[in-house]
Formats: sequence, C-alpha cells, structure tokens
Amino acid sequence: MGKVAIVTGGTRGIGRAICEKLQADGFTVVANYAGNDEAARKFTDETGIATYKWDVGDHEATQAGCAKVAAEVGPVDVVVNNAGITRDGTLMRMGFDDWNEVMRINLGGCFNMAKACFPGMKERGWGRIVNIGSINGQAGQYGQVNYAAAKSGIHGFTKALAQEGARFKITVNAIAPGYIDTDMVAAVPDEVLEKIVAKIPVGRLGKAEEIARGVSFLCSEDAAFVTGSTMSINGGQHMY
Ligand code: CAA
Repeated sequence: MGKVAIVTGGTRGIGRAICEKLQADGFTVVANYAGNDEAARKFTDETGIATYKWDVGDHEATQAGCAKVAAEVGPVDVVVNNAGITRDGTLMRMGFDDWNEVMRINLGGCFNMAKACFPGMKERGWGRIVNIGSINGQAGQYGQVNYAAAKSGIHGFTKALAQEGARFKITVNAIAPGYIDTDMVAAVPDEVLEKIVAKIPVGRLGKAEEIARGVSFLCSEDAAFVTGSTMSINGGQHMY
C-alpha cells in the first residue's frame, strides 16, 4: 500500500484532479468533503477513492475525521489543503459572516488539518503538506477582501510551518493557482470573467489537471529540497 494522502475538498474541481493524480502516482488517496453527498458518491464510483465527510473549518471534527482516516486507512503522510469557498462582494456589501466563513474554512482549515496530521508525520520522520493558495492572495482582487486575506494567510502559514517541519523531513509548500476552469470560477459573472481572461497572457483559463501536476511534484521524493515555496500556476497573469 502506498503512503496515505488526504485531499480536502477532494471530490470536485481542483481537488478531484489532485486525488486522481496522486492515485496515479501510487498514493493511497482519501478525499475529504463537506457538503455535496451526491458528488462524493459519483466521485467514489468513478475513481474508487474513499471519501470522508467533515467540515475542515471545525477543529474537533477535523481531529476526529483525521483520526478515523488513520485508523481505517493508515497514518497520513500527505495533506493537501485544497478545500475553499468564496463569498465575494465589495467591503461595503460584505457581512461579518461572509468574512468569517471564508477565514474559518480556507485558512482555519489549513491549521486544523496540520494540527491533526503534523504530529504523526514528525514521529515517522517524513511528510508532505501542500496548501492551495491563490493568485488573489498574492495580488488581491476587487470584491474579495475575505478570500484574498485568507489565501494570503495561507502563504504566510506555509512559510512558517515549513521552518518547523524541515528538520523532520516534512516539506510544506503552496501552489497559487490563477483562474482555473472550475465551478468556483464559473460563478464569476460572465462580463467580469471575460475581462479577467483578457489579462491572462496564455489566453485561457487553466485546467484542474495543471494544478494537480504541480501538487504531484511537491509530494514526490524529487521535491525533498523544496520547502516554504509557492508555485504560481496562472498562465502568466501575475508574476510574483
Ligand atoms: N477595479 C476597480 N473597480 C472595479 C473593479 C475592479 N476590478 N470591478 C468593478 N469595479 C467597479 C465597477 O466599475 C463599479 O463602479 P461604478 O459603480 O462606478 O460603475 C463598482 O466597482 C461596482 O462593481 P460591480 O457592479 O461589479 O459590483 P457588484 O457589487 O455588483 O459586484 C463583485 C462585485 C461581486 C465583486 C463582482 O465584481 C465580482 O464577482 N467580481 C469577481 C471577483 C472574482 O474575481 N472572484 C474570483 C472568484 S474565483 C476564485 O477566487 C478562485 C481563485 O483563486 C482565482
């Protein structure tokens, strides 16, 4: 059996592509999800990958969920923090709940997953944590003070935890995707998205598989000397 990898928000979009790529790489993959049971069933039917349902923004639920995965599948060596939501709106229109939910899930989820899985990685002397940030955490984005703050926080979290993990052979890296062809981006109004795509030098949205290949590298043995880094995969939209 390969090393066990958990991908949060793993049943759809970028998360699903990451699960499939890590499975192809030989990992024993499990996908966490929070809401859409039907998508999760379809995902398992099509990929054979087991799913575990909990809210990564909930600290206790994440501890319990990761303990269940460890007991049923095996100790977790790879965590991909991919789960994320948007609650876009200008500051003037954004409510505290919109702020708090995005911080709780997108950034708090990374902390909760690391708290649950880092100790075991440290004990076994090997680990990979890959956090999915965003171009909008690097450059900001109109209408996203919550999301940009959370994603920017993920980049800081990555660099700090990388320093703590290094002596235990735990690498911690981030990927900053640009605009990828997923349901999240499809929710951006057409006229807004058209303007965004016009600013991407490569001239198109990215594909989920293009993010998954980056994750695959960062989880590999070949990436043992790569830690605390951010890999931007954005078609040249923001060069950072
Ligand atoms: N810069 C400056 N001004 C802008 C602007 C921008 N980028 N975008 C809009 N404005 C201006 C408008 O011109 C308008 O000005 P006037 O009132 O003078 O005409 C004003 O701001 C209000 O604009 P909207 O009508 O668009 O405001 P809204 O409240 O209806 O909508 C919004 C705001 C919800 C943020 C909408 O603009 C939007 O959805 N933007 C896209 C946000 C986005 O890119 N989200 C990414 C989601 S995908 C993702 O996050 C994945 C990832 O990691 C990349």
